[in-house]
Amino acid sequence: MYSEKVMEHFTTPRNVGEIKDADGIGEVGNAKCGDIMKIYLKIENDIIKDVKFKTFGCGAAIATSSIATELIKGKTVEEALKLTNKAVVEALDGLPPQKIHCSVLAEEAVKAAIEDYKKKHNK
Ligand code: FES
Repeated sequence: MYSEKVMEHFTTPRNVGEIKDADGIGEVGNAKCGDIMKIYLKIENDIIKDVKFKTFGCGAAIATSSIATELIKGKTVEEALKLTNKAVVEALDGLPPQKIHCSVLAEEAVKAAIEDYKKKHNK
């Protein structure tokens, strides 16, 4: 059902945890499945220097958060804002149709964290 990439990110997720003095924090949830995803960003000179996540959810939600953190680390804020759930699914070599919403959660969490950063820093 899952690609090797998904299984790998589920069993050994990257960038798990939280950033104490984060510049932006985004928390989103899916009302239907009840899963929650939280992303922390450390931003310097508009570059995402560090990113961590905490996800209380299904295996696909953990895998999508993990790959999303990898996709935006080192990118500019504007580049990270362009992250789509489609890019997340592609980077994981696909997801089953009933798990696509987990990738949407990852896109939303990244966007929410950037919005929080912009709000706090008057950007
Ligand atoms: Fe809802 Fe995965 S089942 S985020």
